[in-house]
Amino acid sequence: MMKISLVRAARNPEASRTLPSLPFEKDGMDIARSTISRWPGYAPSPIRDLSDLAAELDLGKIYFKDESVRFGLGSFKPLGGAFAVSRALSRYLSAETGEAEPDLASPQMKARVVNLTVTAATDGNHGRSVAWGARMFGCRCVIFVCSSVTRQRKDAIASYGAEIREVDGSFDDAVRLAAKTAKDEGWFVIPDTSDGETVEAPRDVTQGYMLLVDEALDQLRDEPPITHLFLQAGVGGMASASAARFWQAYGAERPITTIVEPEQCACWYESLVAGEPVAVTGDIDSAMAGLSCGEVSLIAWPVLRTGADFMMTLSDDAVPVMMRYLAGKGQDARPVIAGETGISGLAGLVAAAQDETLRKELGLGPDSRVFVVNSEGDTDPEAYKTIVGKSASEVLEQ
Ligand SMILES: Cc1ncc(COP(=O)(O)O)c(C=O)c1O
Repeated sequence: MMKISLVRAARNPEASRTLPSLPFEKDGMDIARSTISRWPGYAPSPIRDLSDLAAELDLGKIYFKDESVRFGLGSFKPLGGAFAVSRALSRYLSAETGEAEPDLASPQMKARVVNLTVTAATDGNHGRSVAWGARMFGCRCVIFVCSSVTRQRKDAIASYGAEIREVDGSFDDAVRLAAKTAKDEGWFVIPDTSDGETVEAPRDVTQGYMLLVDEALDQLRDEPPITHLFLQAGVGGMASASAARFWQAYGAERPITTIVEPEQCACWYESLVAGEPVAVTGDIDSAMAGLSCGEVSLIAWPVLRTGADFMMTLSDDAVPVMMRYLAGKGQDARPVIAGETGISGLAGLVAAAQDETLRKELGLGPDSRVFVVNSEGDTDPEAYKTIVGKSASEVLEQ
């Protein structure tokens, strides 16, 4: 049995079961569902039943929502970034044309957006999803990438026709530069994080991410309820969207929710312990690249402030162990392609289940039915091959 070590864990002192007023639109989920489900190539991502791993950890069920196949982009991110692009353009076109629901696919609307520019900062996947959306809707796109973004990830973004601008600094620095440039140039900025000033686009992003759990609720409707969530967090968009959607569906019986982060960029851990958003600085780069963020999103904060029950951190050593395990046999007799950030929630579950104290505190046992997200596949194919020793297609063929 593989071993994944916990670095630290804590209980959120503010955790509560009372659903707070959520920072989303009332019909936000419906708009996300009806918009995204009409895009070419849409299909709910599958849920893998990790029965071997559940047995090894003496847990009831592990449901692994597999975002590695989403829209061919390899991560859950198009649900947020591309959706927020569509909403920004729709709002603009509504104001211009008076049409309540402009059809972004129509030649008339395409002609109107061709000279517009959308922009975003990224540590990889968000930029790719914004660039993909911009290409689908026919507008220009400029993506600011922080210094840790690999060549393969930059190439993937550029392949959708986006201009890449490199930022000598962290993800948080890139976010600020994208916002400033958008202001100066009159571009639409699509951040996946909110500083409290830019709210609309990050709210759209989060509402789009909620579709992931909305699909899962449907896929699991004949199963007994989920008891635990292990959610990886960078700025907290995916974790807040997932926690919120389960909370809406289950009410006070919502699953016990644990936020998982790399030790060196544990901004959610620090903020929840402090009871207020706290920035983590210094060398915050992690092998879990999508989680290399030092500042929590202020749109995720009101959800996770009470919606997270526990926080935990992992070291980067968890990455190869978990990726290689999933690439092996035994899961539904099929391997799962999971990238460096994709594995982090599941690695958190393994570490928690293997740590006697935390396992007890969380109430993990044979009756537990855990929901975890494989948030990315081989979005950096070179890194995947280096870590796993085979490419994703070789793994799937084995
Ligand atoms: C693959 C992957 N998983 C998880 C996350 C974390 O999402 P968030 O920053 O919304 O917390 C990211 C963010 O980039 C990501 O790329």
